[in-house]
Amino acid sequence: MHLCGVKMDDVTDDRSPAAADSPGNVTVRRAVEADDAALLEIELTAWDGSSGFPSLTSGERSQFFNERSGPDAHLVAEADGEVLGYLRLQDKYPFPEGSGVLAINGLAVANNARGRGVGSTLLEAAAAEAGRRGARKITLHVHATNAPARRLYERHGYTLEGTHHREFQIDGEYVDALDLAKFL
Ligand SMILES: CC(C)(COP(=O)(O)OP(=O)(O)OC[C@H]1O[C@@H](n2cnc3c(N)ncnc32)[C@H](O)[C@@H]1OP(=O)(O)O)[C@@H](O)C(=O)NCCC(=O)NCCS
Repeated sequence: MHLCGVKMDDVTDDRSPAAADSPGNVTVRRAVEADDAALLEIELTAWDGSSGFPSLTSGERSQFFNERSGPDAHLVAEADGEVLGYLRLQDKYPFPEGSGVLAINGLAVANNARGRGVGSTLLEAAAAEAGRRGARKITLHVHATNAPARRLYERHGYTLEGTHHREFQIDGEYVDALDLAKFL
């Protein structure tokens, strides 16, 4: 899972996320194509029935990025050249009336890198990036069963906007889906 990382200072895109004040040398940068393999490894191992959809991570998959979700849509956390996690930040709506609303459409940290602030650092970087883009709101979905993620989002100021009761059936149990949001 080692690859050559690009430090924030090397990223010239003016939409680049600022390096967060992060623990243990963790920095955040925009993803590049070369991150594909490391991110795929995280994607295939980070999710379980309480956090995601087993059907999406159990099948054959050879690429992390795709046409609808390329490197530009991802912030990557890394330390010492090792990719530790990602956050996917995208426009929620394809029309101008919704242009101030961004959606976090994925956040995952490698199993062995959890509990040291990587998820927090990615959320801070996403808020900074959203601010730079002039967004007024960030939204996301989380399973009601995903206690660690819910605590994380709550600490970062996300509040409940709605509940989709018994929205999914995962491992034989119905799961509520929660809409959370944070105003910037
Ligand atoms: C949810 C997820 C992204 C959190 O990532 P993370 O890097 O572990 O998050 P953090 O380290 O910032 O916070 C996790 C915990 O570690 C604690 N922590 C953070 N830095 C710490 C440190 N230096 N020392 C001790 N504890 C620390 C936090 O306080 C938090 O504690 P809590 O569980 O009691 O609330 C990660 O668990 C994950 O990838 N889960 C699977 C995918 C998922 O659920 N994604 C969200 C879908 S909506």
